[in-house]
Amino acid sequence: MRAFRISRHGGPEALEWTELPTPEPGPTEVRVRVRACALNRLDLWVRDGVPGHQFPLPLVPGSEIAGEIDAVGAGAGDHEIGTPVLLAPGVSCGHCDRCIGAEDMLCESYGILGEHRDGGYAEYVVAPARNVLPLPAGLSFAQAAALPLVFMTAWHMLVTRARLRPLEDVLVHAAGSGVSSAGLQIAKLLGARHVIATAGSDAKLEKATRLGATHTVNYREHDFVAAVREITGRKGVEVVFDHVGGDTFEKSLKVLARGGRLVFCGATAAAAAEVNLRMLFFKNQSILGSTMGSLAELRHLLKFVVSGALEPVIDRTLPLAQAPAAQAALESREQFGKIVLIVD
Ligand SMILES: NC(=O)c1ccc[n+]([C@@H]2O[C@H](COP(=O)([O-])OP(=O)(O)OC[C@H]3O[C@@H](n4cnc5c(N)ncnc54)[C@H](OP(=O)(O)O)[C@@H]3O)[C@@H](O)[C@H]2O)c1
Ligand SMILES: [Zn+2]
Repeated sequence: MRAFRISRHGGPEALEWTELPTPEPGPTEVRVRVRACALNRLDLWVRDGVPGHQFPLPLVPGSEIAGEIDAVGAGAGDHEIGTPVLLAPGVSCGHCDRCIGAEDMLCESYGILGEHRDGGYAEYVVAPARNVLPLPAGLSFAQAAALPLVFMTAWHMLVTRARLRPLEDVLVHAAGSGVSSAGLQIAKLLGARHVIATAGSDAKLEKATRLGATHTVNYREHDFVAAVREITGRKGVEVVFDHVGGDTFEKSLKVLARGGRLVFCGATAAAAAEVNLRMLFFKNQSILGSTMGSLAELRHLLKFVVSGALEPVIDRTLPLAQAPAAQAALESREQFGKIVLIVD
């Protein structure tokens, strides 16, 4: 099969366009003919490498995958060849206390397609049969691929970790990112009052408004701290949704209301941040780390996708062979929502 593989970390040249043996499913696995695979910032971490972290190279990247069942392992259950499917991105043991308790993202052996085992920058991918979900009704392969990892992550952040309640106010950073384009919609769905979105361009903020942001701040031109204080009448927001980290994280603590929760799933800009512990306890605030979400959460949120309450946001689609150009666009922060590779 044709695939992109990473054997050594590096820039765009690290993506090798190559011919690989078509993978065979194990007894409890299926092989999926990939039709669409969405990009994530994670793909850049996998390509570039992260200091102090080992990725299992060589590796085919790509975590969000939709396609058709192509082969089924002997003990993988009933899956008809040709069925259109979406793959849940998280892979876990399936039988530990965490997995049984619908907290599979806390399983000791938890991993992600395209990070811990081969993913979807390829014509075929093999995954555990447990990860197979029916393609949500009415969605194209590209739309389906644009949602599982980012919506599951954003859902877990807002619903499970931060417990956002109706009429609370939320600040969503980097509104054009995959995760935040999902977070904005989920905040709205949960009945938030002010949904304040930040981004680095007015064009992105216009799109954020269409997704449900009630207020927007171009952080390159305006101080978001002052803007949030003005919008909320100095109260601040009950929830901050972040993955930028660094300075953004520090400033976000300044606009957290009493009892507020800062939930974050990444630290794109910087991993270090200064925290004033006195302010945190005095105001009964929480800092909540969050990674991925459970298979149960993904299955549940897909119902809102089918109902139309949540929608995948596609910035553009490109053929698989143009993955390096697709990654360059992601890296240059041009996109609003998801960049999706189409596999013919
Ligand atoms: N823990 C988890 O389970 C999990 C899951 C998904 C994602 N994440 C993390 O969440 C972050 C976002 O992921 P994503 O795939 O949604 O990202 P993405 O689509 O690539 O969007 C990232 C956006 O962040 C903004 N940004 C702000 N400061 C930045 C900086 N210093 N460098 C680069 N971009 C910056 C940019 O928008 P502006 O130019 O408009 O500011 C950029 O477009 C990543 O760190 C990712 O690893 C974690
Ligand atoms: Zn487990």
